[in-house]
Amino acid sequence: MIDDLWYKNGVFYCLSVGTYMDANGDGIGDFKGLLRRLDYLQGLGVTTIWLMPFQPSPGKDDGYDISDYYGVDPRYGTLGDFVEFAHGCRQRGIRVIIDLVVNHTSDAHAWFRDARSSKDSPHRNWYVWADKKPANADKGMVFPGVQKSTWTRDKEANAWYFPRFYDFQPDLNTSNPRVQAEILKIMGFWIQLGVSGFRMDAVPFVISTKGAKVRKPVEQYDMLRSFREFLQWRQGNAIILAEANVLPETDMEYFGDDGDRMQMMFNFHVNQHLFYAMASADSRPLAKALKATKPRPATAQWGLFLRNHDELDLGRLTKAQRDVVFKSFGPDKNMQLYGRGIRRRLAPMLGGDRRRLELAYSLMCTLPGTPVIRYGDEIGMGDNLDLPERNCARTPMQWSTEPHAGFTESDRPCAPVIDRGPYGFEHVNVAKQRRDPNSMLNWTERIIRMRKEVPEIGWGDFNVITLRDPAILIVRYDWRNNSVLFVHNLDEKPRELAFASGIGGETWKLLVNLLTEDHSRADARGRHNLMLEGYGYRWYRVGGLDYLLKRSDIDTDAAGNAGHPA
Ligand code: NOJ
Repeated sequence: MIDDLWYKNGVFYCLSVGTYMDANGDGIGDFKGLLRRLDYLQGLGVTTIWLMPFQPSPGKDDGYDISDYYGVDPRYGTLGDFVEFAHGCRQRGIRVIIDLVVNHTSDAHAWFRDARSSKDSPHRNWYVWADKKPANADKGMVFPGVQKSTWTRDKEANAWYFPRFYDFQPDLNTSNPRVQAEILKIMGFWIQLGVSGFRMDAVPFVISTKGAKVRKPVEQYDMLRSFREFLQWRQGNAIILAEANVLPETDMEYFGDDGDRMQMMFNFHVNQHLFYAMASADSRPLAKALKATKPRPATAQWGLFLRNHDELDLGRLTKAQRDVVFKSFGPDKNMQLYGRGIRRRLAPMLGGDRRRLELAYSLMCTLPGTPVIRYGDEIGMGDNLDLPERNCARTPMQWSTEPHAGFTESDRPCAPVIDRGPYGFEHVNVAKQRRDPNSMLNWTERIIRMRKEVPEIGWGDFNVITLRDPAILIVRYDWRNNSVLFVHNLDEKPRELAFASGIGGETWKLLVNLLTEDHSRADARGRHNLMLEGYGYRWYRVGGLDYLLKRSDIDTDAAGNAGHPA
């Protein structure tokens, strides 16, 4: 395994243990089931599994309401099963990162139960309290329409507590040094059990000042450095991938000017503009978003995603842009959520159109960052809009045509399996797609392989080559004297285009197609002329070196991968 900055050229895959594979037949996915599916994941080619919360929890927010940080929820197995799973991953060269949910606990956590029991309890200061209802109680809700307030009265405590999310998730007082020490202890515990890092939940809220008197919350960025430092003392190559949906101006605060804070962040800014680009066939705002999020320390990396387990949050687009995305991808009110997003899965959003799905994946794999795939998207799974809120896109993995998609032998799966319509498990499942060489699954496997063979994307510097036609996006990467170039047509209509592959006047004679035999040779003026089908995409290695031009056949290996950081 390449160890140095391993996350730069990885492919991440996120899943919930509870909906992936049930081995003991109780209707709930478990670690034993997941262990049986590791060969599948290895075959798919993912390098890192991101496990969503699996610790003991009342499960009111899909595990993001933790009641014990140092264990495994008995529904999913035991700590021993976790270690077996971690070992199985290590044997296959797959890394594991887990959710670190420390902005809040569940109200069932022993710390909170102790805190509410008395003003003098040792854990009282671990949470955020007010004697009277604070004036700002009706502001700052993360789930508007569902969540009524950010302060909740607790009878037992005879006081108000602060839940930034749902009322059963009291915020921890993260400014309290004891709470900070406990956060480090939690990290140390899981690092010791073999994880390679954390997807840190709700980071801007974790580091924010909290309290009834706080009028304008301030982010305490230094906390990020102390998390990072501790982690690296314990294990030098462990990382934190931050969930922080923030404006590009503050990105560097999270990464740290010297690269001394978070190694990775999800690129929410690009995510939203990417969906706008696909909805409008206009690449310009996306190109702008790419430039706005370009500055980052050399060791830092973006997490690039299409859909995740939450709604597709469009809050950073203008109203006009948001409306365009709603109209194309989530026109019904029932498909929208919290007034800002779309709760559907990727395949139904794109009308199940294979060309658009490939375009979306090709973009995710070639824009600057490390791709993060949501389980089930590799086979084009659908959603169940009858389920409340974000649960519609959290249905069990569809493995086969067996009852309940082969997910469980129980007749009572923890969440209903999609069994109707074009996305029903009889049509969309792993077994069927594994046998079909042209399936989405096999295509995804191949694109993952190619992504890993193009380290320039993760390591290199990029430039957007602008054409007059806004439907065309060309991104070029340069790294250690290697260059690659990606062309995407966002429109459904085909395009004829001509461009110079070089930057600053240089001319490259040859573009070696990495996916097909269709290479491109420059014309006499040094321009490449392409015919790009609707939603078409091309992956090229920039060649033109003399030795290559003399070869009769063009071998992509010979053209490529010199300089791979082996
Ligand atoms: C962000 C998570 O992605 C979401 O699923 C959860 O509800 C909130 N944080 C609260 O933990």
